[in-house]
Amino acid sequence: MQTRLNNMNMAYSDEGQGRPLLLVHGFPLSRQLWAPQLRGLAGSARVIAPDLRGHGESEALSGPYSMDLLADDCAALLDHLGVTAPALVCGLSMGGYVAFAFYRKYGARAAGLIFAATKAGADSPEGKAGREKNAALAQEKGAAAIAQAMLPKMLAPQSYAARPEVVAQARAMMEGTSVAGVVGALLGMRDRPDSTPTLAHINKPTLVLHGADDQLIPSKEGEAIAAGIKGATLKLIPGAGHLLNLEQPQAFNAAVNGFLQSL
Ligand code: MLT
Repeated sequence: MQTRLNNMNMAYSDEGQGRPLLLVHGFPLSRQLWAPQLRGLAGSARVIAPDLRGHGESEALSGPYSMDLLADDCAALLDHLGVTAPALVCGLSMGGYVAFAFYRKYGARAAGLIFAATKAGADSPEGKAGREKNAALAQEKGAAAIAQAMLPKMLAPQSYAARPEVVAQARAMMEGTSVAGVVGALLGMRDRPDSTPTLAHINKPTLVLHGADDQLIPSKEGEAIAAGIKGATLKLIPGAGHLLNLEQPQAFNAAVNGFLQSL
């Protein structure tokens, strides 16, 4: 589905009924990431998954896309859908950075938080330089060059080696991202604030999910988020890398379902 908000066309999926569950994808992906959750969780929640600006089928306005701006787009989508009840907000990787921003700006609209394959800290100086290098690479060679560089690290080694269908799904999402989207998100992530000070202020039920074999954001980052948030639960998912929800959908959905029931 498509709507117009914040001066752009935004594409989204909206399936099922019940407590709103907002799923925010990572970089440079799309709502296709959440296909196993749209299928598997729509029986127990109203699953809402946007394509962030510049990604998937949403419009690619020029960036930078600050994490606050991406959170504003998510809040505007909830408004458009008439969602007034607090939502369970789940973000994977860059989506997790957006979830932190959403919590800071719209905390009353969050019933709980799920941080998947993400981290609280800001980019180091080397990390910021890497963002700029990748933005230049995308401008020169397109999103496929970014996909080529990132893909081996996006999945657990065993998924990358033995699950060609998962590799193909990830590659298609990455290659489908517009250059403006890649650059806008890279510069937004470069400039994102450190969310470590936010951890101690989070007073909503929180679940932290991390692939045990995440090569892009190591699981110690998920452990640090869980350690910093009072009462948070941490689940490491075996046999999964960075795209844990796609690599191990049953384990991921079971964890989210259990959390939904506990709210
Ligand atoms: C993501 O998967 O969303 C990004 O790789 C996260 C990042 O680059 O920091």
